[in-house]
Amino acid sequence: MSDQLTNDNIMAALSQVRDPEIGRDLVSLGMVKGIDINGTAVDLTVELTTPACPLKAKIESDIVEGLEALGASAVRVDWASNVKRSFGGPAADLIPGVRNTIAVASGKGGVGKTTVAVNLAVSLARDGARVGLLDADITGPNVPLMMGTGGAHVTGSGGRVNPVISHGVKMMSIQYFLTGDAPVIWRGPLIHSAIQQFLRDVEWGELDYLVIDLPPGTGDAALSISQLIPLSGAVIVTTPQEVSLLDARKAIAMFNKVNVRTFGVVENMSGFVCPDCGGEHDIFGSGGGTTIARELGLEVLGRIPIEPGVRSGSDAGVPITSAQHPAADASAAAAAMRELARTVAGRVSVVAAPFAEAATA
Ligand SMILES: Nc1ncnc2c1ncn2[C@@H]1O[C@H](COP(=O)(O)OP(=O)(O)OP(=O)(O)O)[C@@H](O)[C@H]1O
Ligand SMILES: [Mg+2]
Repeated sequence: MSDQLTNDNIMAALSQVRDPEIGRDLVSLGMVKGIDINGTAVDLTVELTTPACPLKAKIESDIVEGLEALGASAVRVDWASNVKRSFGGPAADLIPGVRNTIAVASGKGGVGKTTVAVNLAVSLARDGARVGLLDADITGPNVPLMMGTGGAHVTGSGGRVNPVISHGVKMMSIQYFLTGDAPVIWRGPLIHSAIQQFLRDVEWGELDYLVIDLPPGTGDAALSISQLIPLSGAVIVTTPQEVSLLDARKAIAMFNKVNVRTFGVVENMSGFVCPDCGGEHDIFGSGGGTTIARELGLEVLGRIPIEPGVRSGSDAGVPITSAQHPAADASAAAAAMRELARTVAGRVSVVAAPFAEAATA
């Protein structure tokens, strides 16, 4: 038994370990939930701010290093998580059980917003978070098909509506209210009231993250959402072509105008790895996302390659990141999507940190 291995000394050592994302130490963030000392073996429970923590390995190695310096011979970290809210106040009343909201948007259509939103939601759920996915594209709802729920219909009673659940994600879409393929031609006020109902009348329950798939452009749906509920932040999807980048700038400007933080840019369809020759081809160019991100002081949150399995997975209702997709573990695009989800979860935790503090103060 090392005499240095006391509760106090361990806490002091852990107060030197920082959560690299939030930039503060584990003790002052209240992340250390239990310490069990058995001779020179130490078991601890650390509560992360997201189960999709991008820097778990780094935190773990820093903990082990700190405790070994005190004489510990075996350190076991049990991970727990508690996702905090990143907003407060009456604006959040419409969605009382929802802790964070992530809008996925783009200026230009067809760049892969829905694909990114769906895989973001599925990845967060696979990491253990409670996730909802709201299809805010009222005129071109694509979430149901991509999640394999194209034929689902809403259920509920007493004015409450149950979400449809697939791949571990709770969803709502106008598609679940429609019969047949009749196109939806709705104008602004109706779009606003449909989205309001999706938020207010759906039994979302407790959600760590509500991912919102927005229609292309800077129209009514994006404005409605930002007026109705607080947004933790927006993720802007672009492809590397110049025209897509130009439109991405407009989307970012719109979010700035309504005081919604943009987490950063996702460059989708960034390069194609040829399955025959193994060479990488820049079909739409590459690096354009980096250029606008730099220009606007934003971050590139991820780069997703073009991969046939992404499209076929979407068409078949099995997203590439779903455990049910046969290529989920081999696909570079799936790996990029899962990493993107963790990066975004990390950014949300940073936004939530001051709110959590205010709530416990
Ligand atoms: N990385 C990728 N690799 C291969 N195909 C992709 C990739 N990303 C998206 N796609 C395909 O591109 C098409 C358009 O994607 P998606 O529907 O997600 O775009 P969108 O921006 O939501 O479009 P809209 O503006 O119509 O809402 C889909 O067929 C999708 O499967
Ligand atoms: Mg879409």
